[in-house]
Amino acid sequence: MEEEVIGMTLDLFHGPEEATGTMTSGGTESILLAVKACRDAARAHRGDAMHRGNLVLPSTAHPAFDKAALLMDLPVRRISVGVDLRADVAAMGAAVDADTIMLVGSVPCFPYGVVDPLPALSELALSCEVWLHVDACVGGYFAPFAREVGRPIPSFDFDLPGVMSLSADLHKFGFCPKPASTVFFRTAGPVAERGFDLDVWPSGRFTTATFVGTRPGGGVAGAWAVLNHLGREGYRALATRLLTMRDAYVAGIEAIPGLQIHGVPDLSILAFGGPKLDMGQVAAGMSARGWVPGMVREPPGLHAMMSLLHEPSREAYLSDLQASVAEASTRSGQSIRAVY
Ligand SMILES: Cc1ncc(COP(=O)(O)O)c(C=O)c1O
Repeated sequence: MEEEVIGMTLDLFHGPEEATGTMTSGGTESILLAVKACRDAARAHRGDAMHRGNLVLPSTAHPAFDKAALLMDLPVRRISVGVDLRADVAAMGAAVDADTIMLVGSVPCFPYGVVDPLPALSELALSCEVWLHVDACVGGYFAPFAREVGRPIPSFDFDLPGVMSLSADLHKFGFCPKPASTVFFRTAGPVAERGFDLDVWPSGRFTTATFVGTRPGGGVAGAWAVLNHLGREGYRALATRLLTMRDAYVAGIEAIPGLQIHGVPDLSILAFGGPKLDMGQVAAGMSARGWVPGMVREPPGLHAMMSLLHEPSREAYLSDLQASVAEASTRSGQSIRAVY
């Protein structure tokens, strides 16, 4: 079942003949394996088994990269995104030095839901000879279908020659039960790089494709069943519904005086705020009305990651949002920041 899942999904991401992939427990494990593969390939290439290469990330990249870097004792350079909230490729290029081993772009980033300019990052990666990882954990199983139904999603996968690895979570917009993520590598490379290949104990050679040892088969079987059930047609239909719903939310939010969407969200994650509003107060108002508001800090805003569960609640949400904004506006100047 895992082989069939990987076969179907590698095809979706335009994996070349020699590309390979594996299922993991989640985005964090997929990212950890990609960082390890990149570090080990760089060490082998340099002939320096102790090389501490650095990672250059947009400020919006998921903390799973820092987690991986922390475990492997690698330095991380987080680079501010541009005014459009997407990775600033020129600034990332300026941060690359002789010890840089990895560049990262997200599809989309979690805080604002915008896709990074992967074609330009691929060019940068090729010109600096640095590994490019695409973190499509949240949108990997949504973005290809958004493009197929006519939305402007740029190339982001192995079609781009600089992309060396890609993570995509089935248990997010693949609509599969947890735990289910995928990680892919452009070239097969040694197992020891992509996973673990150890010969250290009386029981002999010990290889694992992922970080963990024993793995739950339920997530694999669940993903296999969902992929076969939905098929590409099913995912296209979901993408159409999700994006129609997103457009309606965006229009409703922008119709509330004082609010604006942060950047131009590409899928169904968005953040919004208003320069004259205390978004902590707006969130407190939403919280008092029974919602569980997510927030972003910079620029201050409310955050929403929307699935089809949010389809029927749009009118109630927007009317409560309008009331919370009106309340916050009249209270401006006071210091009510408690939200949860
Ligand atoms: C962009 C992105 N990357 C990675 C992850 C980590 O995934 P997981 O929580 O499955 O480990 C997330 C989780 O939300 C994410 O949004």
